[in-house]
Amino acid sequence: MARLGERVREAARTLAAAGVPSPDHDARELAAHVLGEPRYPVLEPDDVPASFDDDYALVVSRRAAREPLQHILGYTVFRHVRLTIDPTVFVPRPETEVVAEVAIDEAARLADEGGTPLVVDLCCGSGAIAASVHAEVRRAIVVAVDASPDAARMTRANVGRVGPAGDLGPRVETGDVTDAALLEDLNGSVDVVASNPPYIPPGAVPRDPEVRDYDPALALYGGGEDGLDVPRAVIATAARLLRPGGLLVMEHAEVQGAQARDAALAAGDFHHIETRQDLTGRDRMLVARRR
Ligand SMILES: C[S@@+](CC[C@H](N)C(=O)[O-])C[C@H]1O[C@@H](n2cnc3c(N)ncnc32)[C@H](O)[C@@H]1O
Repeated sequence: MARLGERVREAARTLAAAGVPSPDHDARELAAHVLGEPRYPVLEPDDVPASFDDDYALVVSRRAAREPLQHILGYTVFRHVRLTIDPTVFVPRPETEVVAEVAIDEAARLADEGGTPLVVDLCCGSGAIAASVHAEVRRAIVVAVDASPDAARMTRANVGRVGPAGDLGPRVETGDVTDAALLEDLNGSVDVVASNPPYIPPGAVPRDPEVRDYDPALALYGGGEDGLDVPRAVIATAARLLRPGGLLVMEHAEVQGAQARDAALAAGDFHHIETRQDLTGRDRMLVARRR
């Protein structure tokens, strides 16, 4: 009978042959999942439960068919929070952790000054940014919106699991950023708007099966020839919601920096408009301050 480590190495070879980008990591994560452990054991046990082999073979074959690891596990970890994930929502990506960090730093600064920062996550998906702000800046009031009712439901669950809500939040709504009346009760009062909207142009179908075949189309394609219709609506909504001096941070594709800055400039309400990079040095977010 093969030991756990040998089974995992064999699974990693299967995943590598199927083109999975991180086969060793995924084979270990799936083994931990089947064992019911939060992570792969440092000291590999000699033996495993009798049901292990069948259960492990099943999840390895699902991953080899390029089903996202997060769909199989049912969760992902984003910054300090564990988020429930299912196929109805976009799987949060590491680059968005840096977008969240800009929002968190701004909210934390305002909280340190004694304020109660109001932070809005537009196009919230599973609630990655909203839940992180809620977890890391306990004084912040968090509001999150998504056009997908499934995403709003998932955000409500994920934000709710982070900890008790304050008197004023978190508030999670199903809503469309192209709706000029969205969150209109907050007009001119928001301290931070953070967003990772859909921004892929219609012709740029992603190559990775995990993205192309599993992320909801509503979460990927931003509309218009350049994929920036929804991001432009995010910028317009931010201009309306932010108080003077409030901060917008919005993710975009590596090649969209200039277009995003132009859109913020055209909105007419922002200054200190800049493009910032993700952890790999790629241009990945617009940061701008409401005049
Ligand atoms: C790229 S996903 C990002 C989700 C989440 N912010 C994250 O980083 O994991 C974009 C999200 O925008 C939502 N969305 C698409 N069009 C929208 C619109 N017009 N108004 C509001 N949300 C929209 C999608 O449903 C999806 O959840």
